[in-house]
Amino acid sequence: MRAALHALYGESADAWAERILKAALRAGRCRPAELQELDRERLRDPRWFLGQELAGYSCYLDRFAGVLSDLRRRVDYLSELGIRVLHVLPIWKRRCGESDGGFAVSDHAEVDPRYGTNGELFELAGELRARRISLCMDFVMNHVADDHPWALAAQRGEADYGEFFHFIGDEAEIRAFNASAHSVFPATAPGNFTWVPARGNWVWTTFYPYQWDLNYANPRVLFEIVNILLKLANMGVEMFRLDSIPYLWKRRGSDCRNQPEVHELLRVLRAVVEIAAPGVLLMAEAIVEAGEQRRYLGDAQNREAHLAYNNAQMLELWAALAEGDARKLGAQAASGAPPAGAGWVHYARCHDEIGWCNLPEPGRAERARRMDDFFSGRAPGSFSAGQSFESAPDAIPGTCGTLASLVGLERARQESDSKALELARRRIRLMHGIICSMPGLPIFFMGDEIGLCNVRSALPGKGGGDSRNLHRPAMDWERALMRTDASSIEAAIWGDLRELLVRRRELSCLHAEAGLEIFSTPHHPVLCMVRRAPGETLVVLANFSAESLWLAPLADSLRVSPLRVDVLGGHRANLAEPCCLEPYDLLWLAPAS
Ligand code: GLC
Repeated sequence: MRAALHALYGESADAWAERILKAALRAGRCRPAELQELDRERLRDPRWFLGQELAGYSCYLDRFAGVLSDLRRRVDYLSELGIRVLHVLPIWKRRCGESDGGFAVSDHAEVDPRYGTNGELFELAGELRARRISLCMDFVMNHVADDHPWALAAQRGEADYGEFFHFIGDEAEIRAFNASAHSVFPATAPGNFTWVPARGNWVWTTFYPYQWDLNYANPRVLFEIVNILLKLANMGVEMFRLDSIPYLWKRRGSDCRNQPEVHELLRVLRAVVEIAAPGVLLMAEAIVEAGEQRRYLGDAQNREAHLAYNNAQMLELWAALAEGDARKLGAQAASGAPPAGAGWVHYARCHDEIGWCNLPEPGRAERARRMDDFFSGRAPGSFSAGQSFESAPDAIPGTCGTLASLVGLERARQESDSKALELARRRIRLMHGIICSMPGLPIFFMGDEIGLCNVRSALPGKGGGDSRNLHRPAMDWERALMRTDASSIEAAIWGDLRELLVRRRELSCLHAEAGLEIFSTPHHPVLCMVRRAPGETLVVLANFSAESLWLAPLADSLRVSPLRVDVLGGHRANLAEPCCLEPYDLLWLAPAS
């Protein structure tokens, strides 16, 4: 921690190190007994979060359950699916009016009264823990709302708080930053600065104008943020999603993401957590390119986050579906092993858009355009019903849409096309199946388990707005009930995912630290992967096309025993013989006993 603080703050580092250490030790001592017990349990098995028995679920509290006290009525549903980590999107006190889905926080350590109280949160975390579900919450540390007490104090001209933000008066400097810095919302909030009349100055706002970026070059900001993290950890939060972490440090001439100081900051947080609350996990929301995302997991000497989103793989997963070609997905999976003791979060989508701007070079812009066309349904042959996100000249758009809508379920339903409906179901199973096959923690977004479609009424009008609301439906509990009606599509989608999670738990070769090898076949749409643990192998075969394909005998090249059984479908297979993959098929071939 000291080395990281020195890299950040030079001479003043020692004094801040003392203060941070004291705060961490104090928080550790005040930690409720049951959480200290949890810490001890996790210290006995520090890699507990890499186990194949874990699976996560992400939701907005109001859209899933209502208020905090209502959530307990939904725990059975989560357990039935096999969920062990629940990510609840921000419920902290938020800005009045627009709040970026709660990411414009007015108080980081106070539950917004519309959702309940801190006491209820503590109780809920305990109840979830008793049901073996870890509560994950957002830690929105890049910015605060413009009505946060720090921002208000800065607006009143209080000098100390002016230092909490990046105020810039010089327009030439602003132009220089804007020329290189990444623009997150190029259509609805272009640029990175917002005029603050009260100060006669511009403030840095990476996201919406009402979200003011914090200035981590000021050590006091880090100190305050550490204290908040410690408080929340003692409220029972077991895992923090470190929101927008790549943006914490600004440097002129750079794109102001992934700066080396961001990693130093993350090392400080990791050290603090290990001192005060070693049972707690940090999960980096680093939605960046492949080469950068891995750095958020640190290395053996310098640990950073425990987990990070595997955004690069998520992009390749969708691209494989659109292109009918799994080679780049395979290459990404083969090259992307995390450092020992850390893991990836795998996901098909989350509450945000699928951001094509992080596709790899070369060819990014052209491929992104094709993805945008495909998933917006404009490309010939597309089955998708998504929408472009933040289309602006010179910017690479993203895609919005629920999993079901993006894979063709919405259109199949509208057209009452039962064949297309079955294909869409198979695509959902394939997407969920791949994230369950990869090493790491799979996290599913609320509603995808029963195929909820886009909320067309949530699309912004001409006056702008946030088109991500398209894929943030309210839970449809009537539809969820249909999971017990075997003839329904909901039952099929739910049953597929549940089966994946049941089987996954049983297969030690799906542990995050088990081996992964990718093999090429003459068929470009096929992903052929072997997961290996001592005494166990699983052959994963996936077909990203609507064609049936015959694969030549694989047993020799894969170096596996030929007699296999598909643990998902129950069929036997002999890999010494040709093997057939149906459209969008996914096979998990374990040794036949
Ligand atoms: C993260 C959130 C996103 C939000 C942004 C700004 O990327 O996932 O929803 O808009 O941060 O807080």
